[in-house]
Amino acid sequence: MPSEKEIRARLKPGCICKGIKLHTILSAIENGADSYEEVARRTNIGGGSCNSRRCREKVNSLLLKKNQ
Ligand code: FES
Repeated sequence: MPSEKEIRARLKPGCICKGIKLHTILSAIENGADSYEEVARRTNIGGGSCNSRRCREKVNSLLLKKNQ
């Protein structure tokens, strides 16, 4: 059974432009993606109308938290 944190991550947006949920990004990071470019390659985020500004910021923040 998924935890409450996992359920919330499934509902939250990750890349709004592409309609990709946060849990997809979190899963890529948990499975070893260690840069925005690698997360984008694995999840197909980025390249939307915001020019990746929003999801890049989110991914970089998640990577920083992971590495603290
Ligand atoms: S939010 Fe990901 S490309 Fe705009």
